Amino acid sequence: MLEVEGLTVALPMGGQKVPVLSGVSFTLAQGGSAGLVGESGSGKSMTALAIMGLLPPEAQVGGQIRFAGRDLLAADEAALCAIRGRRIGMVFQEPMTALNPLMSIGAQVAEPLRRHLRLSRAAAAARAAALLDRVGLGAGRAGPHLYPHQLSGGQRQRVVIAMALACGPDLLIADEPTTALDVTVQAQVLALLAELAEEAGMALLLITHDLGVVSETVAQVLVMYAGRVVEQGATAAVFARMAHPYTRALFAASPHEAGGRPVPIAGQVPDPRAMPPGCAFAPRCPRADAACRAAVPPMRDGTACFHPVAG
Ligand SMILES: Nc1ncnc2c1ncn2[C@@H]1O[C@H](COP(=O)(O)OP(=O)(O)OP(=O)(O)O)[C@@H](O)[C@H]1O
Ligand SMILES: [Mg+2]
Repeated sequence: MLEVEGLTVALPMGGQKVPVLSGVSFTLAQGGSAGLVGESGSGKSMTALAIMGLLPPEAQVGGQIRFAGRDLLAADEAALCAIRGRRIGMVFQEPMTALNPLMSIGAQVAEPLRRHLRLSRAAAAARAAALLDRVGLGAGRAGPHLYPHQLSGGQRQRVVIAMALACGPDLLIADEPTTALDVTVQAQVLALLAELAEEAGMALLLITHDLGVVSETVAQVLVMYAGRVVEQGATAAVFARMAHPYTRALFAASPHEAGGRPVPIAGQVPDPRAMPPGCAFAPRCPRADAACRAAVPPMRDGTACFHPVAG
């Protein structure tokens, strides 16, 4: 249903054309789920923005993004507007930026229903109330008449989820949907997201720093580093093999590793304006040699590494 093939994005920075995504490829079947993980600046949000056609206008995009048989990179703004919110739902990190402080939450959830599905005011209001009820904000606890400032952060993100789901999209993209929330609320909101996606047979693209969440919520995982996918595959298989040294390092740095303390990854993510010539992870990698510094390793058997860690 979603096919991303050789996606490349470059942004002009200080008179220079700087690649921020290189050769990102993956597919998501109907009802499938994928997680994008990687350190800050690895290109996770860029990937999501490219799929939604929300890259900055000066971005230079290459490769292919096909969604339900359409070439999204060739679609005009009108076509993209019809797809966004209708066929592709989005949930971002900070719920307040997605909500209008001057509109009741019921009216906000009803808005896409009126715009995309052309429901009458009454029908949209009824469906909005049902959606709010489904995300745990029914009349008993909250209700459509409330305004965003009257809600907690977790409740606001539930409103955003209700909005994203309103038109029954085929694909839900959630970019760090819970990082602004308390740890205790994070798990509830993610569980709700995964549950609703499954219930509706929706595909889910989930961006998160939390490897524990990935292992529990999504069927496939893509590990990104410096604008490239370095390891990808079925979640259980990737976690079992962790063939790319970066995947290992990321896992070791994660507070979710059973037992032991998190071990931070030494060194820094490279500046995209000064990318090393070979594997971008080589300067931080314990296994790197001259070959790694000379050429970018191609993706082979789900791992882009000249010296993958053996099982
Ligand atoms: N508007 C922008 N103009 C120029 N460069 C940008 C812009 N937004 C992001 N970048 C660069 O693009 C690269 C990828 O950024 P992206 O936001 O996709 O990372 P990310 O993986 O989502 O990180 P995070 O975990 O911090 O959200 C980074 O090098 C970043 O500096
Ligand atoms: Mg991001």
